[in-house]
Amino acid sequence: MAAALRFDGRVVLVTGAGGGLGKAYALAFAERGASVVVNDLGGDFKGYGKSSSAADKVVNEIRAKGGKAVPNYDSVEDGEKLVKTALEAFGRIDIVINNAGILRDRSFVRISDEDWDIIHRIHLRGSFLVTRAAWNHMKNQKFGRIIMTCSAAGIYGNFGQANYSAAKLGLLGLSNTIAIEGRKYNIHCNTIAPTAGSRLTQTVMPQDMVDAFKPEYVAPLVLWLCHESCQENGSLFEVGAGWIGKLRWERSLGALVRGKNQPMTPEAVREKWEKVCDFDNASKPRSIQESISVLNDALSQIESQGNVSVNSTSSGSVVSSAVNTANVIGRELATKVYTYTHLEPILYALGVGMSTKDPDHLKFLFEGSEEFCCLPSFAVIPAQTSVFDGVASLPGLNFDFTKMLHGEQYLELYKPLPTSGQLTSVSTVADILDKGSGAVLLVDVNTYCGKDLLCYNQFTVFFVGAGGFGGKRTSEKAKVAVNPPRRPPDAVLSDVTTADQAALYRLSGDWNPLHVDPSFAALGGFKKPILHGLCSFGFAARHVLKHFANNDVTRFKAIKVRFAKPVFPGQTLETEMWKEGNRIHFQTKVKETGEIAIAGGYVDITSSLDKSSASEPVKTAGLQSDLVFEEIGRRIKEIGNELVKKVNAVFQWDITKDGKTAVQWTIDLKNGSGEVYQGPARSSADTIFTLSDQDFMDVVQQKTNPQKAFFSGKLKVKGNIMLSQKLETILKDYAKL
Ligand code: NAI
Repeated sequence: MAAALRFDGRVVLVTGAGGGLGKAYALAFAERGASVVVNDLGGDFKGYGKSSSAADKVVNEIRAKGGKAVPNYDSVEDGEKLVKTALEAFGRIDIVINNAGILRDRSFVRISDEDWDIIHRIHLRGSFLVTRAAWNHMKNQKFGRIIMTCSAAGIYGNFGQANYSAAKLGLLGLSNTIAIEGRKYNIHCNTIAPTAGSRLTQTVMPQDMVDAFKPEYVAPLVLWLCHESCQENGSLFEVGAGWIGKLRWERSLGALVRGKNQPMTPEAVREKWEKVCDFDNASKPRSIQESISVLNDALSQIESQGNVSVNSTSSGSVVSSAVNTANVIGRELATKVYTYTHLEPILYALGVGMSTKDPDHLKFLFEGSEEFCCLPSFAVIPAQTSVFDGVASLPGLNFDFTKMLHGEQYLELYKPLPTSGQLTSVSTVADILDKGSGAVLLVDVNTYCGKDLLCYNQFTVFFVGAGGFGGKRTSEKAKVAVNPPRRPPDAVLSDVTTADQAALYRLSGDWNPLHVDPSFAALGGFKKPILHGLCSFGFAARHVLKHFANNDVTRFKAIKVRFAKPVFPGQTLETEMWKEGNRIHFQTKVKETGEIAIAGGYVDITSSLDKSSASEPVKTAGLQSDLVFEEIGRRIKEIGNELVKKVNAVFQWDITKDGKTAVQWTIDLKNGSGEVYQGPARSSADTIFTLSDQDFMDVVQQKTNPQKAFFSGKLKVKGNIMLSQKLETILKDYAKL
C-alpha cells in the first residue's frame, strides 16, 4: 500500500475551526501529525458575539487524542495575530485553511450596507489578511499550501445570497492570482466549494441531509491539496458527500462579428449570436494569456481578411458557407517525413532529363562519384506530399480536385540537400486568393533535416472555377514570377524529352494518372497524358544551373516558375535565359509549337565569390535556438512590415548554456521593416528575456508555455512584460521546428 499522507512537522492554521467544516479539518490534520492552530471567534452564525469555548473544545479534543493544537480566538480580520499564534506556538506556518464564515442572507434589494460589508470583511478580506500574514514565511521556506473556501452560491448564484455569492467568488479570483504568484515559491493555492451539514446549512437543509453530508467527507480533499506531494495549484473543486469534482472554464469558439474596415454593429452580433453561444468544440482556456491570444488571433484574422466576407455563402466558390478563410490561413496542413537513399536523387535526375550524354552527369547519376550530389530542384520532391495530401484534408473548403492545377512554384535552398537521409516537411496554408476564374491556394513548406532547415517551397495551387467568393486577388506572401528583360536571351539551352519522360518522372512520387493514363488525361480534356509541370521545372532548373553556375549546386539559391501551358512527353524544352546580376531570368518554350510552357521564371545564384558563405551555415553559437532565430529572421524578411505594425517592440534574448550567456539575439519589430540579428539590441530593448537554450526550445516546441517557464524561474523577463504576449504570435509558428 502507498504510504499514508502525513503532516508531521507541518504547522496548519485553520480559521473558523470551532465547528462544522473547520473542526473536521483541524481534527484530520492533527490526527496525521500536524500542529494545528484552531482559530475561532466563537460568535453566532450571523457574526454576532464572541467566545473562546468553540476553539477550546476542539483544541481539547485534539490534545485528548495525543495531537498538538493551540487555540486562537481572534477574528480573521486580525490576520497577523492568527499567524503570530502559529509562530509563537510552533515556530512556523506551512498551511492556511481560510474557512471562517458567516451568513447574512437577504434578498438582494434588502441587503443593508452592513450586511454587505461584514460578509466581504469576514470572507474575502479576512482570507486576504490571514494569507498575507503567512505569505512571506511560506515564501522564505519555499513551501506553502493555501485553501480558499468558495461556495456553489458564488459559482452559480443563489437566491438571497447576493452579498455572500459576491464575496465567495471573489475568493476564487484571489486564489487564481496568488496561485500564479506563489508557484515559483512552491506556494500552492486551491479553492473548494464544499457542501456539508453545519450550523450554516441547517437552516436551509433538512436534518437528514445535514446528517448525511458530513464535514468528514470534505476534509480529505483539503488534506490532499495541502500535502507537500500534491502539485495541484490554482484549481477549483466542488466537494461533498464523498464526491469530488474539478471545475474549469469553457469558452465557445465564438464568432468574428466585424470585417476589416467595417464598423461593428449590434445587428451583426445578433446575427452571430448562435455561433457566439455555441459550445461545440469549445476551448478550455487556462490562463489569461490563452484568453487574450484569441483576441490577437481575431485581430490578425480580421486584418488578413482583406475583402473576404466573414461568412461568404457564394455557392460553387472555394469557400464553404460554414468556414471563413481566415480560419484556414496559417493552418498547418501536414508534416511528412521523406526517407531516401541515393536511389531517389538519381531517379529524379533521370526524370528531369539528366543523361550520361552530359559530361557532368557522373555527379548526379553515379553514387560512387566523389562529387555525388542532388540536383537543387530535387528539393520539391520531399515537400510535395505534404502539400497535396494536406490540401485534401483541409476541412471546410469545397475543393474539386479534378479541377486542381499546379500554377506556380517557388523554391529556396539554404543548404545543399543530402544525397540520402530523412527529411521532414511541414506545410502551412499561406493564403487563399480569389482570381475570379479560380481560387488560388498558397502553400508554404519548410523542409528540415533534423533541426536544420534545408529549404522552403511555396506551391501555388489553382482551382479552376472556384473563384468569385469575394476574396482578395493578391497576397504579400506570394512569391511572384517576374517577366524577363525585353532583349534577346543571353543563352538558350534545349533538351528533347522522351516519350517516357512522364512515366519516368512520376516514379519520384507524383502518381497522378493524368501523366500516364490516356483515359484519365482525356477526362481532363487533354489529347494524351501531359508532362508534370515540375518535370519541366526540373529541366529548366538544370539548364540554368549548367549554363550560369557550372553545375555547382551550392550556388543555386532560389527558383521561381509559373506553369503557363502543358507540355507533352516527346516535345523539346527550350530554355531562354537572361542574366541580370545574380538573377537569371528565364522562360521555357515548347520548341515544336513556340508556346511558352514556363513563364516569368528566375533563378537566383550566388556569385562564385560568395560561394563559401552560401554553402556554409550562418555562423552561430551552435545552439538549437539559432535555427529558430534564423527562421524568424527569414520570416521577418518576408512579412516584417506587417509584424512591425502588429508588435512594435524590440525583444532581446540572452540565451544561456550551462548557466552562462552563450549568445544574444535581438528581434527588432519596431524599426523599419524589422530584423533579427545576433547581439544585444542596438537601440534599447523593450523586453529582455533570459533563458537556457533548452528551455527556449521547450517553449518554442510548446512543451512548456512561457508562463510556466516564467513562474518556474526558467524564463527571466526584464522590461515590459506585457509585450511578451505579442511574442507568442511570433513564436508559435515555430512549434514544429
Ligand atoms: P460553521 O458556521 O459551522 O463554521 C464557520 C466557523 O467560522 C464558525 O465556527 C464561526 O464561529 C467561525 N467564524 C465566523 N466568523 C469568524 C471570524 N470573523 N473569525 C474567526 N472565526 C469566525 O459553517 P461551515 O458550514 O463549517 O462553513 C465553513 C466555511 O464553508 C464557510 O466559509 C462557509 O461559507 C463555507 N461553505 C459551507 C458550505 C456548507 O455546505 N456547509 C457551503 C459552501 C460554503
